[in-house]
Amino acid sequence: MIKENTSTNYGNWVSSKFIYIPFLMGAFFLGLILVWPGFAILAALCLLSGTYFVYARHAFSPCGGNIQVKLWEMVLERLDWNGKGKALDIGCGNGPLTIALAQRYPDGHVTGIDFWGKKWDYSKAACERNAQTAGVADQTDFQKASASALPFEDGTFEAAVSNFVFHEVSDAEDKRELLKEALRVVKKGGYFAFQDLFLFEELYGEIDDLLETIRTWGITEVAFVDTSASDFVPTALKLPFMVGKAGIIYGEK
Ligand SMILES: C[S@@+](CC[C@H](N)C(=O)[O-])C[C@H]1O[C@@H](n2cnc3c(N)ncnc32)[C@H](O)[C@@H]1O
Repeated sequence: MIKENTSTNYGNWVSSKFIYIPFLMGAFFLGLILVWPGFAILAALCLLSGTYFVYARHAFSPCGGNIQVKLWEMVLERLDWNGKGKALDIGCGNGPLTIALAQRYPDGHVTGIDFWGKKWDYSKAACERNAQTAGVADQTDFQKASASALPFEDGTFEAAVSNFVFHEVSDAEDKRELLKEALRVVKKGGYFAFQDLFLFEELYGEIDDLLETIRTWGITEVAFVDTSASDFVPTALKLPFMVGKAGIIYGEK
């Protein structure tokens, strides 16, 4: 089980900005009610969305429903890697999957890459601190790079994972291309497990068609599991922009 201790900080998919920005805007519109009462509606909408994100942040965290950890675990469960050689974590955030893989497979080396933009509170320094605290600094390395152009030769890795990243990549209009790029750097016979909003047809098209397309790229085995349907995911988190359209595409290249 992935565990956070008092020194590791894996962050939260609901960044603090998602909370304080709606609350600040809500307060601003409340102040404007004296000018025009209609601003009350905008204030209420902002305060409601801020409150929803407070709930979601709590549900994802270890002191709430621990949903983040449970969804990370599902990715690890679907990766059929034997732990020998190199693995890649695409869009590693603060490094939870990179570190969990390194802990699980002491003979392996895991690289975490991320763009570390301003939307989240994640950083390369936090990844390195977390890896040090978890005792896997020697087995891990972290690099700034984009999922849309991975700085690695074809077939560099025995395994690759990614968690809730591809839909966020702003410089790739066709999200399927990100899957192709991720699979490019996996060795023939290597393993992969990617979790994202794969049931979002506007992003990926219909899921069976997506899996069929992946097969045409010469992938030996590919399967899909709908993680949004897991019992532990509360109904309130099943909104499409949260984890309501989430699933894992996994298999062997
Ligand atoms: C929802 S967070 C998930 C982080 C991590 N995988 C986890 O499960 O905690 C999305 C991540 O995607 C990263 N990201 C966004 N655009 C990216 C890009 N073009 N290349 C690499 N990472 C990117 C963000 O910096 C952020 O760390």
